[in-house]
Amino acid sequence: MTDKINDLLRRVAEFSPRTAADVEEFRIRILGKKGELNALMEEFKSVAPELKRELGQQLNKLKSAALERINALREEAQAAAADSAATLDDPTRPGTAAALGTRHPISLVRNQIVEVFARLGYTVAEGPEIEDDWHVFSALNFPPEHPARDMQDTFFIEKNPDVLLRTHTSSIQVRTMTQQKPPIRVICPGRVFRNEAISYRAHCIFHQIEGLYVDEGVTFADLKQSLLYFAREVFGETARIRMRPSYFPFTEPSAEVDVSCNLCGGKGCNVCKGTGWLEIMGCGMVDPNVLESCGIDSKKYSGFAFGMGIERIAMLKYGVKDLRLYFENDVRFLRQFESAL
Ligand code: DAH
Repeated sequence: MTDKINDLLRRVAEFSPRTAADVEEFRIRILGKKGELNALMEEFKSVAPELKRELGQQLNKLKSAALERINALREEAQAAAADSAATLDDPTRPGTAAALGTRHPISLVRNQIVEVFARLGYTVAEGPEIEDDWHVFSALNFPPEHPARDMQDTFFIEKNPDVLLRTHTSSIQVRTMTQQKPPIRVICPGRVFRNEAISYRAHCIFHQIEGLYVDEGVTFADLKQSLLYFAREVFGETARIRMRPSYFPFTEPSAEVDVSCNLCGGKGCNVCKGTGWLEIMGCGMVDPNVLESCGIDSKKYSGFAFGMGIERIAMLKYGVKDLRLYFENDVRFLRQFESAL
Protein backbone atom coordinates (compact mmCIF):
# COMPACT_ATOMS: atom_id res chain seq x y z
CA MET A 1 0.00 0.00 0.00
CA THR A 2 2.89 2.36 0.73
CA ASP A 3 3.98 1.92 -2.89
CA LYS A 4 0.57 2.95 -4.14
CA ILE A 5 0.58 6.02 -1.88
CA ASN A 6 4.04 7.04 -3.08
CA ASP A 7 3.10 6.51 -6.70
CA LEU A 8 0.07 8.74 -6.33
CA LEU A 9 2.15 11.39 -4.50
CA ARG A 10 4.60 11.41 -7.40
CA ARG A 11 1.86 11.74 -10.02
CA VAL A 12 0.28 14.62 -8.09
CA ALA A 13 3.64 16.42 -7.95
CA GLU A 14 4.42 15.84 -11.63
CA PHE A 15 1.00 16.67 -13.02
CA SER A 16 1.18 19.60 -15.43
CA PRO A 17 -2.18 20.58 -16.90
CA ARG A 18 -2.66 22.81 -19.92
CA THR A 19 -6.12 24.09 -19.13
CA ALA A 20 -8.49 24.54 -16.22
CA ALA A 21 -10.48 21.60 -17.59
CA ASP A 22 -7.40 19.35 -17.27
CA VAL A 23 -7.15 20.33 -13.62
CA GLU A 24 -10.82 19.56 -12.98
CA GLU A 25 -10.56 16.17 -14.64
CA PHE A 26 -7.50 15.33 -12.57
CA ARG A 27 -9.26 16.46 -9.39
CA ILE A 28 -12.20 14.15 -10.01
CA ARG A 29 -9.90 11.22 -10.79
CA ILE A 30 -7.91 11.68 -7.59
CA LEU A 31 -10.20 13.33 -5.05
CA GLY A 32 -13.65 12.49 -6.42
CA LYS A 33 -16.08 10.13 -4.67
CA LYS A 34 -14.94 7.25 -6.82
CA GLY A 35 -11.42 8.60 -7.06
CA GLU A 36 -8.09 6.98 -6.28
CA LEU A 37 -7.80 8.49 -2.82
CA ASN A 38 -11.11 7.08 -1.68
CA ALA A 39 -10.13 3.67 -3.08
CA LEU A 40 -7.04 3.79 -0.90
CA MET A 41 -9.16 4.80 2.12
CA GLU A 42 -11.33 1.78 1.50
CA GLU A 43 -8.28 -0.45 1.36
CA PHE A 44 -7.00 1.16 4.57
CA LYS A 45 -10.00 -0.19 6.50
CA SER A 46 -8.73 -3.73 6.14
CA VAL A 47 -5.03 -3.29 6.94
CA ALA A 48 -3.52 -4.94 9.98
CA PRO A 49 -3.94 -2.85 13.16
CA GLU A 50 -0.16 -2.56 13.73
CA LEU A 51 0.22 -0.86 10.29
CA LYS A 52 -2.70 1.53 10.74
CA ARG A 53 -0.78 4.32 12.48
CA GLU A 54 2.00 4.50 9.87
CA LEU A 55 -0.26 4.14 6.82
CA GLY A 56 -2.83 6.56 8.24
CA GLN A 57 -0.18 9.26 8.47
CA GLN A 58 0.96 8.59 4.89
CA LEU A 59 -2.62 8.81 3.62
CA ASN A 60 -3.21 12.11 5.42
CA LYS A 61 -0.05 13.52 3.91
CA LEU A 62 -1.14 12.41 0.46
CA LYS A 63 -4.56 13.98 0.87
CA SER A 64 -3.31 17.37 1.90
CA ALA A 65 -0.57 17.36 -0.76
CA ALA A 66 -3.14 16.55 -3.47
CA LEU A 67 -5.55 19.23 -2.25
CA GLU A 68 -2.89 21.88 -2.07
CA ARG A 69 -1.44 21.13 -5.50
CA ILE A 70 -4.81 20.98 -7.23
CA ASN A 71 -5.96 24.26 -5.68
CA ALA A 72 -2.76 25.97 -6.73
CA LEU A 73 -2.99 24.65 -10.28
CA ARG A 74 -6.61 25.71 -10.53
CA GLU A 75 -5.80 29.25 -9.47
CA GLU A 76 -2.95 29.41 -11.95
CA ALA A 77 -5.15 28.20 -14.79
CA GLN A 78 -7.89 30.68 -13.90
CA ALA A 79 -5.45 33.60 -13.77
CA ALA A 80 -3.96 32.65 -17.13
CA ALA A 81 -7.45 32.42 -18.65
CA ALA A 82 -8.40 35.83 -17.24
CA ASP A 83 -5.20 37.30 -18.63
CA SER A 84 -5.68 36.08 -22.13
CA ALA A 85 -9.32 37.11 -22.05
CA ALA A 86 -8.32 40.60 -20.97
CA THR A 87 -5.81 41.02 -23.75
CA LEU A 88 -7.75 39.35 -26.48
CA ASP A 89 -11.36 40.32 -25.89
CA ASP A 90 -11.04 43.82 -27.35
CA PRO A 91 -8.05 44.39 -29.59
CA THR A 92 -9.13 48.00 -30.24
CA ARG A 93 -8.80 48.94 -26.56
CA PRO A 94 -6.12 51.66 -26.08
CA GLY A 95 -2.85 50.49 -24.54
CA THR A 96 -1.69 51.47 -21.08
CA ALA A 97 0.07 54.80 -21.41
CA ALA A 98 3.61 54.87 -20.03
CA ALA A 99 4.09 57.93 -17.83
CA LEU A 100 6.70 60.27 -19.31
CA GLY A 101 9.42 61.49 -17.00
CA THR A 102 10.72 65.05 -16.99
CA ARG A 103 14.24 66.34 -17.15
CA HIS A 104 15.56 67.74 -13.91
CA PRO A 105 15.84 71.55 -14.00
CA ILE A 106 19.57 71.31 -13.24
CA SER A 107 20.02 69.08 -16.29
CA LEU A 108 17.92 71.43 -18.42
CA VAL A 109 20.03 74.43 -17.51
CA ARG A 110 23.31 72.55 -17.82
CA ASN A 111 22.32 71.27 -21.28
CA GLN A 112 21.31 74.73 -22.40
CA ILE A 113 24.56 76.33 -21.24
CA VAL A 114 26.62 73.57 -22.88
CA GLU A 115 24.65 74.01 -26.08
CA VAL A 116 25.13 77.80 -26.13
CA PHE A 117 28.90 77.49 -25.76
CA ALA A 118 29.02 74.61 -28.24
CA ARG A 119 27.83 77.14 -30.83
CA LEU A 120 30.93 79.21 -30.02
CA GLY A 121 33.15 76.18 -30.64
CA TYR A 122 33.52 74.90 -27.07
CA THR A 123 33.66 71.18 -26.37
CA VAL A 124 32.72 69.50 -23.10
CA ALA A 125 35.48 68.41 -20.71
CA GLU A 126 34.95 66.47 -17.52
CA GLY A 127 37.10 65.49 -14.57
CA PRO A 128 36.99 63.35 -11.44
CA GLU A 129 34.98 64.37 -8.38
CA ILE A 130 37.67 62.94 -6.10
CA GLU A 131 40.71 65.10 -6.69
CA ASP A 132 44.10 65.98 -5.28
CA ASP A 133 45.35 69.24 -3.82
CA TRP A 134 47.40 70.13 -6.90
CA HIS A 135 44.50 70.11 -9.39
CA VAL A 136 42.04 71.87 -7.06
CA PHE A 137 44.34 74.42 -5.38
CA SER A 138 48.09 74.50 -6.00
CA ALA A 139 48.05 74.60 -9.82
CA LEU A 140 45.36 77.29 -9.59
CA ASN A 141 47.69 79.59 -7.71
CA PHE A 142 46.13 79.19 -4.26
CA PRO A 143 48.77 80.15 -1.69
CA PRO A 144 49.43 77.37 0.85
CA GLU A 145 47.63 79.21 3.67
CA HIS A 146 44.54 80.19 1.61
CA PRO A 147 41.33 79.82 3.68
CA ALA A 148 39.56 77.73 0.99
CA ARG A 149 41.93 74.89 1.83
CA ASP A 150 40.65 74.83 5.41
CA MET A 151 38.82 71.81 6.74
CA GLN A 152 35.79 74.12 6.90
CA ASP A 153 35.27 74.19 3.17
CA THR A 154 36.87 71.08 1.81
CA PHE A 155 35.82 67.49 2.37
CA PHE A 156 38.91 65.35 2.74
CA ILE A 157 38.74 61.64 2.13
CA GLU A 158 40.04 59.70 5.08
CA LYS A 159 42.80 61.62 6.84
CA ASN A 160 44.91 62.15 3.76
CA PRO A 161 45.03 65.89 2.97
CA ASP A 162 45.89 65.10 -0.64
CA VAL A 163 42.68 63.19 -1.43
CA LEU A 164 39.65 65.45 -1.44
CA LEU A 165 36.31 66.16 -3.09
CA ARG A 166 36.69 68.98 -5.58
CA THR A 167 35.31 72.27 -4.29
CA HIS A 168 34.99 73.76 -7.78
CA THR A 169 35.11 72.70 -11.42
CA SER A 170 38.19 74.88 -11.98
CA SER A 171 40.18 71.66 -11.44
CA ILE A 172 38.99 70.60 -14.91
CA GLN A 173 40.77 73.66 -16.37
CA VAL A 174 43.99 72.31 -14.96
CA ARG A 175 43.37 68.80 -16.25
CA THR A 176 42.55 70.15 -19.72
CA MET A 177 45.56 72.46 -19.94
CA THR A 178 47.97 69.72 -18.88
CA GLN A 179 46.54 67.38 -21.52
CA GLN A 180 45.88 69.62 -24.53
CA LYS A 181 47.79 72.27 -26.41
CA PRO A 182 46.19 75.65 -27.25
CA PRO A 183 43.91 76.62 -28.83
CA ILE A 184 41.72 75.30 -26.01
CA ARG A 185 38.01 75.99 -25.74
CA VAL A 186 36.23 73.86 -23.15
CA ILE A 187 33.07 74.00 -21.11
CA CYS A 188 33.20 71.84 -17.98
CA PRO A 189 30.02 70.90 -16.12
CA GLY A 190 30.25 68.94 -12.90
CA ARG A 191 29.25 68.28 -9.32
CA VAL A 192 31.21 70.00 -6.56
CA PHE A 193 31.33 69.59 -2.79
CA ARG A 194 31.76 72.00 0.09
CA ASN A 195 31.44 71.52 3.80
CA GLU A 196 28.59 74.00 4.22
CA ALA A 197 25.42 73.98 6.27
CA ILE A 198 22.38 73.22 4.11
CA SER A 199 19.95 76.15 3.77
CA TYR A 200 17.67 77.74 1.18
CA ARG A 201 20.71 79.24 -0.53
CA ALA A 202 23.52 76.73 0.09
CA HIS A 203 24.09 73.00 -0.12
CA CYS A 204 27.11 70.79 0.48
CA ILE A 205 26.68 69.27 -3.00
CA PHE A 206 25.96 71.47 -5.99
CA HIS A 207 26.79 71.92 -9.66
CA GLN A 208 29.06 74.29 -11.50
CA ILE A 209 30.00 75.03 -15.06
CA GLU A 210 33.47 76.20 -15.85
CA GLY A 211 34.59 77.74 -19.13
CA LEU A 212 38.12 78.12 -20.45
CA TYR A 213 39.51 79.67 -23.62
CA VAL A 214 43.27 79.75 -24.22
CA ASP A 215 44.89 80.89 -27.48
CA GLU A 216 47.23 83.54 -28.85
CA GLY A 217 45.92 87.05 -28.30
CA VAL A 218 42.79 86.31 -26.21
CA THR A 219 41.65 89.51 -24.50
CA PHE A 220 39.22 90.73 -21.86
CA ALA A 221 37.04 92.08 -24.67
CA ASP A 222 36.62 88.50 -25.98
CA LEU A 223 35.58 87.43 -22.50
CA LYS A 224 33.00 90.17 -22.15
CA GLN A 225 31.48 89.56 -25.57
CA SER A 226 31.26 85.79 -25.02
CA LEU A 227 29.51 86.29 -21.69
CA LEU A 228 27.10 88.82 -23.15
CA TYR A 229 26.18 86.30 -25.85
CA PHE A 230 25.66 83.65 -23.15
CA ALA A 231 23.48 85.97 -21.02
CA ARG A 232 21.24 86.87 -23.97
CA GLU A 233 20.77 83.23 -24.94
CA VAL A 234 19.91 82.12 -21.41
CA PHE A 235 18.09 85.15 -19.97
CA GLY A 236 16.59 86.66 -23.10
CA GLU A 237 17.50 89.03 -25.92
CA THR A 238 17.30 92.18 -23.88
CA ALA A 239 19.66 90.98 -21.12
CA ARG A 240 22.61 93.23 -20.30
CA ILE A 241 25.69 92.38 -18.27
CA ARG A 242 28.07 94.35 -16.10
CA MET A 243 31.39 93.39 -14.60
CA ARG A 244 32.66 94.35 -11.17
CA PRO A 245 36.32 93.99 -10.15
CA SER A 246 36.90 90.98 -7.92
CA TYR A 247 39.61 88.59 -6.80
CA PHE A 248 40.29 84.92 -7.59
CA PRO A 249 43.76 83.40 -7.18
CA PHE A 250 43.63 81.87 -10.66
CA THR A 251 42.63 84.95 -12.69
CA GLU A 252 44.15 88.41 -13.07
CA PRO A 253 42.30 90.66 -13.53
CA SER A 254 39.20 89.03 -12.06
CA ALA A 255 35.60 90.11 -12.22
CA GLU A 256 32.18 89.22 -10.97
CA VAL A 257 29.45 89.27 -13.59
CA ASP A 258 25.92 90.56 -13.03
CA VAL A 259 23.05 90.16 -15.46
CA SER A 260 20.18 92.63 -15.62
CA CYS A 261 17.27 91.27 -13.56
CA ASN A 262 15.04 89.28 -15.90
CA LEU A 263 12.00 89.73 -13.63
CA CYS A 264 11.83 93.51 -13.47
CA GLY A 265 13.94 94.23 -16.56
CA GLY A 266 16.41 96.18 -14.43
CA LYS A 267 13.96 98.53 -12.70
CA GLY A 268 14.47 96.93 -9.30
CA CYS A 269 12.32 94.30 -7.53
CA ASN A 270 12.54 92.04 -4.49
CA VAL A 271 14.46 89.31 -6.37
CA CYS A 272 17.27 91.71 -7.33
CA LYS A 273 16.81 93.54 -4.00
CA GLY A 274 16.04 96.76 -5.79
CA THR A 275 19.37 96.92 -7.62
CA GLY A 276 18.19 95.73 -11.04
CA TRP A 277 21.15 93.32 -11.21
CA LEU A 278 21.73 89.65 -10.35
CA GLU A 279 25.14 88.16 -9.71
CA ILE A 280 25.72 85.12 -11.91
CA MET A 281 29.40 84.19 -12.09
CA GLY A 282 33.07 84.84 -11.54
CA CYS A 283 35.56 85.25 -14.37
CA GLY A 284 38.84 86.74 -15.44
CA MET A 285 42.00 86.41 -17.51
CA VAL A 286 43.84 83.19 -16.63
CA ASP A 287 46.74 84.12 -14.34
CA PRO A 288 50.10 83.51 -16.11
CA ASN A 289 51.17 81.43 -13.07
CA VAL A 290 48.32 79.01 -13.81
CA LEU A 291 49.29 78.72 -17.49
CA GLU A 292 52.90 78.05 -16.52
CA SER A 293 51.92 75.46 -13.87
CA CYS A 294 50.11 73.59 -16.59
CA GLY A 295 53.01 73.77 -19.05
CA ILE A 296 51.62 76.53 -21.30
CA ASP A 297 53.91 79.37 -22.39
CA SER A 298 52.35 82.48 -20.85
CA LYS A 299 54.37 84.79 -23.12
CA LYS A 300 52.82 83.28 -26.20
CA TYR A 301 49.34 82.46 -24.96
CA SER A 302 46.64 84.15 -22.93
CA GLY A 303 43.18 83.04 -21.95
CA PHE A 304 40.03 83.70 -20.04
CA ALA A 305 38.03 81.55 -17.65
CA PHE A 306 34.67 81.78 -15.98
CA GLY A 307 32.71 79.71 -13.50
CA MET A 308 29.09 79.68 -12.40
CA GLY A 309 26.74 77.71 -10.16
CA ILE A 310 24.07 75.86 -12.13
CA GLU A 311 21.60 75.91 -9.22
CA ARG A 312 21.89 79.69 -9.07
CA ILE A 313 21.30 80.17 -12.81
CA ALA A 314 18.32 77.77 -12.63
CA MET A 315 16.90 79.65 -9.61
CA LEU A 316 17.08 82.95 -11.48
CA LYS A 317 15.75 81.51 -14.73
CA TYR A 318 12.78 79.68 -13.18
CA GLY A 319 12.17 81.86 -10.11
CA VAL A 320 12.95 79.06 -7.63
CA LYS A 321 13.44 80.52 -4.16
CA ASP A 322 14.77 77.51 -2.22
CA LEU A 323 17.77 75.60 -3.51
CA ARG A 324 16.87 72.51 -1.46
CA LEU A 325 13.97 71.84 -3.85
CA TYR A 326 16.51 70.68 -6.44
CA PHE A 327 17.60 67.80 -4.22
CA GLU A 328 14.34 66.58 -2.75
CA ASN A 329 12.92 65.00 -5.92
CA ASP A 330 9.36 66.00 -5.10
CA VAL A 331 7.45 65.18 -8.29
CA ARG A 332 5.14 68.16 -7.76
CA PHE A 333 8.20 70.39 -8.18
CA LEU A 334 9.80 68.39 -10.98
CA ARG A 335 6.62 68.10 -13.09
CA GLN A 336 6.58 71.87 -13.51
CA PHE A 337 9.54 71.51 -15.87
CA GLU A 338 7.70 69.10 -18.17
CA SER A 339 7.34 71.60 -20.99
CA ALA A 340 10.71 73.32 -20.53
CA LEU A 341 13.13 72.90 -23.43
N1 DAH B 1 35.96 78.52 -9.06
C1 DAH B 1 35.21 79.68 -8.62
C2 DAH B 1 34.29 79.28 -7.48
O1 DAH B 1 34.09 78.13 -7.25
C3 DAH B 1 34.38 80.22 -9.75
C4 DAH B 1 35.24 80.85 -10.79
C5 DAH B 1 35.55 82.20 -10.69
C6 DAH B 1 35.74 80.14 -11.84
C7 DAH B 1 36.33 82.81 -11.63
C8 DAH B 1 36.52 80.73 -12.81
C9 DAH B 1 36.82 82.09 -12.68
O2 DAH B 1 37.03 80.07 -13.85
O3 DAH B 1 37.60 82.67 -13.61
O4 DAH B 1 33.81 80.12 -6.79
